Amino acid sequence: MRQIILILSFLLATGAQAAPFAKGNAETGGKLHTQSCNGCHADKFNGDGAKIYTRVDRKVKSADQLAQRIGTCNAMLGLNLFPEDELNLGAYLNKTFYKFK
Ligand code: HEC
Repeated sequence: MRQIILILSFLLATGAQAAPFAKGNAETGGKLHTQSCNGCHADKFNGDGAKIYTRVDRKVKSADQLAQRIGTCNAMLGLNLFPEDELNLGAYLNKTFYKFK
């Protein structure tokens, strides 16, 4: 029992310290973003899709919210992305725009 608790607290501690989306590949995510995401965002923001992430009143305020938002978009749009794709997208968006620690 004691050992299990030790292992669990170790996992929690290291999980909290790891950078968000550390296992994602930002480069792969960037390509996927250009293919599947940017066009629609650009339509809404006068041709500059990046503005959706850089506007002052942007919605996403934490890494958790970013992961959630990517998951919702994926489900809503029926993009059929794999969890790995979502992780890559998260890595790309976080590295390029949000910079959550
Ligand atoms: C069919 C159009 C459309 C597509 C395709 C789309 N989005 Fe969006 N997305 C939107 C709209 C509209 C908003 C703004 C919603 C709002 O203001 O509440 C948005 C907002 C977001 C936000 C939140 C930005 C903020 O305010 O911080 C994220 C993150 C995001 N989208 C990610 C994605 C990703 C990743 C994909 C591709 C997998 C994607 N979206 C594809 C329409 C789209």
